[in-house]
Amino acid sequence: MARLMSGVRTTGQLHFGNYFGAIKTWVELQNQYECFFGAMDWHGMTSNYKNSSEVMPWNRDIIAELLAWGIDPEKNVLFIQSFVPEHLELFLIFANLTPMGWLERVPTWKDAEEENKANDTHNLGRFAYPVLQAADIAIYQAQKVPVGQDQVAHLELSREIIRRFNHLYKAQLPEPQPVLTKMPVVTGLDGRKMSKSYGNTLLMTEDEKSLLKKVRAMPTDPQRVRREDPGDPDQCNVYTFHKLFSTEKDLEWVNVGCRSAGIGCGDCKGRLAENINSLCAEPREKKKQLLNQPERLDSIIRDGCERARKEAQLTLRMVKERMKL
Ligand code: TRP
Ligand code: SF4
Repeated sequence: MARLMSGVRTTGQLHFGNYFGAIKTWVELQNQYECFFGAMDWHGMTSNYKNSSEVMPWNRDIIAELLAWGIDPEKNVLFIQSFVPEHLELFLIFANLTPMGWLERVPTWKDAEEENKANDTHNLGRFAYPVLQAADIAIYQAQKVPVGQDQVAHLELSREIIRRFNHLYKAQLPEPQPVLTKMPVVTGLDGRKMSKSYGNTLLMTEDEKSLLKKVRAMPTDPQRVRREDPGDPDQCNVYTFHKLFSTEKDLEWVNVGCRSAGIGCGDCKGRLAENINSLCAEPREKKKQLLNQPERLDSIIRDGCERARKEAQLTLRMVKERMKL
């Protein structure tokens, strides 16, 4: 079975952008690959170093979330990045052989310059983000990495760094191949990309009340002012959400009902909230139970990190042998 590695930045509770962008595919991939899934807290720290005290509770929350949504801790290695210090040692080895120019060209660095300066994240750690990501993958000798469109450049750079390492030290770290999965860019409640920094997220385990409140507050087709005005679902972010959460039958119901003013926006949103809730009700309950059993959760985390470390140490030993350190 080929080995696959992926991770999610620790920046808070996971939301549906994370779900459709990553976690949903992880649930499927766990049956096809030997998987290493991590809460990447050092990556999260590149933007959250000022509120570092929140990172550990978030790590636990993320692991509980993954378990609640069906990631099997026996079948997969679930770990927290900072609990496996080998990531950082390999990162520094890779940092030495990565030319500045490679990093300067990465779109997520280049395009975010103003934003980074405004947020005090125009920093060395943020600059080196893709090098750490290369180390994450190589430390487990992963052959596969699932990528959505926004991570293609990062993976390409990881491959280049690993190739350069192999060339310099006559090593055979696998060059990770992308597993291309359809991962839609998920819009947030306001129609922009769903992101914590925009405050437009729906959590994967949003409680029912706040779910309803958030959906009710979503903007609708601006042309549909009164209940009797027909609307256009294609101009409405509520419909975009329906496409993620609702059945074909409900999509048809919205399409016909909206265009003929047969349904009101309240009906439409009510149905959406119901459909979202039926997806997350069970995981929400499971997650709550896990967080209420801290010893059990801790033991799962400890076990996963131990298994991760064992693999990471094997790789690092081999790396150092090759480098004759
Ligand atoms: N950069 C990824 C993201 O923003 C998270 C990540 C860190 C990752 N290290 C990784 C993903 C290694 C895949 C492989 O979502
Ligand atoms: Fe949007 Fe639904 Fe209202 Fe149509 S009925 S405008 S799709 S919320």
